[in-house]
Amino acid sequence: MTQDQLKQAVARAAIEYIKPKLFNDAIIGVGTGSTANFFIDYLGEIKNQFAGAVASSDASAARLKKLGIDVLDCNSVSELVVYVDGADESNAYLHLIKGGGAALTREKIVRAVSKEFVCIADESKWVDVLGKFPLPVEVIPMARSYVARELVKLGGTPVYRDGVVTDNGNVILDVYNLQIIDPVGLETRVNQITGVVTNGLFAVQAADVLLLGTKEGVKTLFPS
Ligand code: A5P
Repeated sequence: MTQDQLKQAVARAAIEYIKPKLFNDAIIGVGTGSTANFFIDYLGEIKNQFAGAVASSDASAARLKKLGIDVLDCNSVSELVVYVDGADESNAYLHLIKGGGAALTREKIVRAVSKEFVCIADESKWVDVLGKFPLPVEVIPMARSYVARELVKLGGTPVYRDGVVTDNGNVILDVYNLQIIDPVGLETRVNQITGVVTNGLFAVQAADVLLLGTKEGVKTLFPS
């Protein structure tokens, strides 16, 4: 099976997983990236079973609208029934690194508003220790150099993601060479640096369930 086929399989599995949770007025959270895109495409098939979606990026919002799915402003919604999104890495606690697509801040907001976070990923994303994938940090442009120096003090090697401006008008530093033994501690520490909007660790609020695409089939994993 190719990586794309594994992504399609987990996207399909996510549809089956969320179906029993949907009702007429339900609003769902929808993420960003290639795995989330497969999910959005399948979501079109059941668009009459819920009211609309909040998207974690302008790109996902456009894709949802194209399928005739209502996209709502997050401020008009008190709770999302479920949030479905991909990840760049997951450990056994379902602590994640996200933000490879630069949508981490909106993803964190959507996650915070959602009752349940269903992560969908192919098996290449499964790791023992987070950090091989560089940790994305969204930064206010004026603070870029200062934040980079602070990240070096934490043992990382920050690299400016050249030419990328987030949907919020900010920049991304990708932090290499981190062995993230304490994801909750590092997430909290990095977010305390002045000028950081947020970082791509989802550990304080991890995923609730991971649908992991493997060659043996889709595994449903809960935090250990
Ligand atoms: C977007 O900012 C990310 O958090 C994505 O969810 C993550 O990069 C996974 O993307 P793929 O599904 O494309 O691998």
